[in-house]
Order: sequence, then structure tokens, then C-alpha cells
Amino acid sequence: MAETERTLDIAVLGAGTVGSQVIRILQEQGEDLAARAGARLQVVKVLVRNPDAPRDVPLDPGLLTTDAAEAIDGRDLVIELIGGIEPARTYVLRALRQGISVVTGNKALLAAHGPELYEAAAASDADLYYEAAVAGAVPVVYGLRESLAGDRVTRVLGIVNGTTNFILDAMATEGASYADALARAQELGFAEADPTADVEGLDAAAKCAILASLAFHTRVGIDDVAVEGITSLTAEDMREAAFFSRAVKLLAIAERRIGEDGHEGVSVRVHPALVPLDHPLASVNGAFNAVVVEGEAAGRLMFYGQGAGGAPTASAVLSDVVAAASHRVHGGHAPRESVYAHLPILDPGSARTRYQMRLRVEDRLGVLSEVANIFARHGVSIQSVHQRDGQGIGQAVIVIATHVAREADLQAVAHALSQSPAVREVASTIRMEGD
Ligand code: HSE
Repeated sequence: MAETERTLDIAVLGAGTVGSQVIRILQEQGEDLAARAGARLQVVKVLVRNPDAPRDVPLDPGLLTTDAAEAIDGRDLVIELIGGIEPARTYVLRALRQGISVVTGNKALLAAHGPELYEAAAASDADLYYEAAVAGAVPVVYGLRESLAGDRVTRVLGIVNGTTNFILDAMATEGASYADALARAQELGFAEADPTADVEGLDAAAKCAILASLAFHTRVGIDDVAVEGITSLTAEDMREAAFFSRAVKLLAIAERRIGEDGHEGVSVRVHPALVPLDHPLASVNGAFNAVVVEGEAAGRLMFYGQGAGGAPTASAVLSDVVAAASHRVHGGHAPRESVYAHLPILDPGSARTRYQMRLRVEDRLGVLSEVANIFARHGVSIQSVHQRDGQGIGQAVIVIATHVAREADLQAVAHALSQSPAVREVASTIRMEGD
């Protein structure tokens, strides 16, 4: 192995699950990483909240500090793994404004303040890298930002939240209720004590915004994403999905399409969807992530792997560290923000999708035609109807799948059904994707 003379000083902000693994791998594989980067990568400071907190990996107490300025100032590279908006934003900007390259895994920060960070990086000729912000070890940021830079991406469809995928999988395979599956995910450490960001779809929405920005060369923020989480799904929804040979997945969907004004725009949404069992995303189980990218020239690509966890996420962080370090040594810089396309964000109501609706209806003459009329009045075409006896006397269950229609029209149908005397309950409305 070639002798590497130069040393780059690194500060790691946050020594939790991922930070500890980053430091461990930097120590254990230091020779290899140095040879790849062209410089020794030396962790000189680790910013922590509590120096006495127990750690997954033993750390030299001399590295620990609670003083952000002491950790950051004058370094060659800062790795931000604190998460959340503040104080992470202040620390990242502090580093970038000094010309210090930053590697971060912070999806919330990027989805809310990406442009500000990119501007600070460009102004001081520093690198901003964030592979770990989306789908852990899965190299989809690199895939979109660099591998597909020569293509025209039309669609990104992904499972980008492992916690919800684990919960949905447990509901489907064990018949568990949402609450029981969530409790199990928490016991096993897949879900946090406060699971809101995951189960309400906010974590996936941040990742969706990042992927859409890269795919369509347009600024997409978290507020542009129409979000629906998994909290209202039931064990019955899972049984129905299996009956129709589908799996329920929380999907992040970003697509380029022609809006209702005739101009091209970007549609971004996160919601549960029924996916056919023979679709590649249907077999992504447990806490795994997968992202399908469709490029006009490349066709369909699939990125798959571990979307969370200390070591897998550290792998993504370290690939960015090697790239940023190599630029310090050999010159060059990370891709700058690419937003030249400036596509408008399309109204979520104009999205085109299909619904499967499960209704409890009166079991009497004419009910089916009353229900069918509601669909027809809103211009929504029915693809299939499946009826079975309901559990109550005089009641039937009807499961209706629609053809592709406008989201707003589908919602209007669901509302009108809920008001109809023929319908006792709209038990569920789940979108259908991937056909
Ligand atoms: N909470 C995320 C997930 C991992 O469950 O996938 C970090 O983004």
C-alpha cells in the first residue's frame, strides 16, 4: 500500500448509532480508506451532548467535546450525524462558511434547508455530501446525482422508510394490528419511542423531496410533498390486499408529468399503496428499502438494501468522506445544486392514481347501482367490483377497484360515498400503484 503523507482532520458531530460506527470503521479500516482518499483520515474531535453517556463503540475520552466551535473550526471535514434541524443547521453552515466540506445524513435538514446549504458550500468551494440521508446504505443519491446525470428521469418510486415497512410486513405476515406491530417494532429497536416521523410519513416525505430534487433538477422541499402515513391501516386491509394478490407498502412517489395546464411539472407524494405481488417493490420486506428509478434511456433501475442501522448508514457516510477527502487532496468538488429545470410542483389533486375502496353497504335491491352512479357522476371509471356477505344482518361488503383517475375526483367519490344512505361505512380507501 502506498505511503500516505497527508492527514485530514475530521470532526464527527454526534456519536450515536451511526456516528459510533463511522468512527469504528475509520479506525479499523484506516489504511485502506487512506489509500483510497489519498490522505490519512483522522478523527480529531467528536461533538457529543453528554461525554459520560454509554457508547456502542468505546471512544477515546480525549476526543469528546461539548463545544461545537472547538469541534468544527479549522477542520478539513465535518461529518454531521446529529439529525433534526437545529442545532445541526447552524453547525453545518458554520463548517461550510469556513470552506470545510460536510458529509451529513440529515434528511430533515436537507429537505427543509437544502438550497441554503448548497449556496454556502458553493460560496466557499466546500463539498456537501449526503448519501446517508436517503435509504441508508443504498447508493441512490449517487445514482441520481451522478450515475443518471446523462439521462432524463421520469419517475422515482420507493420504499424509503424501514420502520413502516417492518410494521406493514408484520401486519401482513402475522395478522397483527397496527398497534401491536408498532409495539413489536419498538421492542426490537426498529421504531423509536416517538414514532411520529416514521408512521406519519414525514421521514419518507423528506427523502422523497431530496430524491425528486435530484431526479428532476428542481427544488423540491418537504412542504411540497403530499403526505399520508400508515396509522389508519388495519389487519383487515392487509387480508384484503392478500386476497387481491397485492402487498401494502408506504411508497414515496416522484414523477415528471404534464399538469392540467398543459405544462410539465413534478408530482411528489407519500402514501400507502397496494402493489401487485409480482412488482419488485412487493417483495421488499422487513426494514429494507428499495427505490425504483425510471430513466428515458436507462429504463427501469432498482436500488435495494439496508435503509437504516449503524453500520449500513456508516457505509454511505464513509463513501462520501472518501470522495470529499479525495477532492481535498487531488482537487475537484462534489456536484453543485442542479435546479436549472425549475419545474413547477403540481397540485396533489391532479395526481393520477387508482383507488381500491372497501364499503359496507345495505344489502338491498339497487344499492350497487346507487354506488356505481356516484363513481359515474365524478367521472371515475370502475375497473372491478367484488361483493361478499357482510358480518352484520342485511349488510354486504363491496370492494371496488377503479381505473386511473384524478386524485381529487377519487377523493370526491369517497366523500360522496360516505354521505350516501346506501353506504354504511367507507371502511378503507387505498391507492393502487405499480400496475
Ligand atoms: N427512521 C428511518 C427508517 C431510518 O425507519 O427508515 C432513518 O432514516
